[in-house]
Amino acid sequence: MMGNIDLASKIAEKLPSELTHFIHLAGEVAEQQGQHLYLVGGVVRDLMLGQANLDLDLVVEGNAIDLARQLGKLNDQCQVTTHPQFQTANLQWSRWRVDLTTARAESYAHPGALPTVQPGSIKDDLCRRDFTINAMAADLSPDRYGALLDYYGGVKDLQAKVIRVLHEKSFTDDATRILRGIRYEQRLSFRIEPDTLELLKRDTSLLDTISGDRIRHELELILDEACPEKALGRAAELGVLPKIHLSLKGNDWLKQKFEQARRLTAPNLPSVGLYLALCAYHLTGEEVEQLISHLRLPKTLAVTLRDSVAVRGKIKTLADAKIKPSLIYRRLDGYSLLALMTNLIASDDNTTRQHIQQFLSKLRHVKPVLTGNDLQAMGIASGPAIKEVLWLLQAARLDRQATTKRDEEQLVKDWLTSNQTPPSHS
Ligand code: CTP
Repeated sequence: MMGNIDLASKIAEKLPSELTHFIHLAGEVAEQQGQHLYLVGGVVRDLMLGQANLDLDLVVEGNAIDLARQLGKLNDQCQVTTHPQFQTANLQWSRWRVDLTTARAESYAHPGALPTVQPGSIKDDLCRRDFTINAMAADLSPDRYGALLDYYGGVKDLQAKVIRVLHEKSFTDDATRILRGIRYEQRLSFRIEPDTLELLKRDTSLLDTISGDRIRHELELILDEACPEKALGRAAELGVLPKIHLSLKGNDWLKQKFEQARRLTAPNLPSVGLYLALCAYHLTGEEVEQLISHLRLPKTLAVTLRDSVAVRGKIKTLADAKIKPSLIYRRLDGYSLLALMTNLIASDDNTTRQHIQQFLSKLRHVKPVLTGNDLQAMGIASGPAIKEVLWLLQAARLDRQATTKRDEEQLVKDWLTSNQTPPSHS
């Protein structure tokens, strides 16, 4: 289906005027150079759904790098980055970023391989894409501005609310599309169309050919969704989740905890780290290490996961209602905040939750007034004794046995008296 749908008014309505102005101008500049420019992919899908999407992907039949340089010259603020080996470029100015690609035809040597690329038409370029709903374009040439290009039935599938691949080798070409398909299905409340679902099941094992980095990227995209538990649940149902890691589960527990996480962090959404630590909450230390190395998690995420499981190991000791604040502090000090939040959400025991909450909101900020220097001035020798007395003062503060500087000084004097080294008799 070609050209009957005009997206010009949707573009004007849904995109900020700065971006609308930019793409209009970009279409004109391309035309002056004898090139054709198109808006493609997710933004077109979302415009058709009446939604805004500010990640603009442009495809040019011609040369993306030349065009990006021309466009960069029109705006002093614009930063142009080019990747000649991929024939892509991006433009960044103020809050905006636009990706520009040379239209290409792709072929894959074997499953999991990166594609071999040659220049192609917009039709070729749309043909290599994952799903029909992501394979539409809007023409930006001045005389056809806004005309929809839909060679593969994207509009029909949007109306039928289905996720459909363009050809039967789509998941073989790129198995990450299995995770992408599930993500779109759940985000949009669509259904993966039956033939596509068969192909997805047939090709699930190909996820083993995908590098940990690419799997992590897809997992992060899932965890960035408004309700990631939906995609995780569906991935579990389809037997895809174990391909991310054998021990991950997308069950009711996770759903409930993700909802709790959103309540806790509102109005912001929980970070990927918090969601991931909840996913990994029940793993053994060994499983966590496998997950970290398989997905090549960056250090901060790795620390969150390790800490979260380490705190879980101590969690029973926090269920005692009579436990002293200084002991709560000792149990929880030194762990990453996200790991503590994970345990706060994951624990079902009220007393435990109160204690973690108390640590997070109050205890972790409690410090003695006296410093190491003050203690030395009061006669405590530098070395381990300073550390010991500082902790004694902090514990007294935490347990409210010391509330003033004078209380602390008195404790130091008492300590000195009881730790006075007896004079040596030679
Ligand atoms: N694409 C693809 N196969 C992939 C990744 C991307 O065919 N494995 C194509 C799709 O046409 C997609 C476009 O590249 O629409 C842009 O990819 P991306 O930015 O990841 O997706 P969006 O569609 O913009 O989706 P999202 O709403 O998740 O950002």
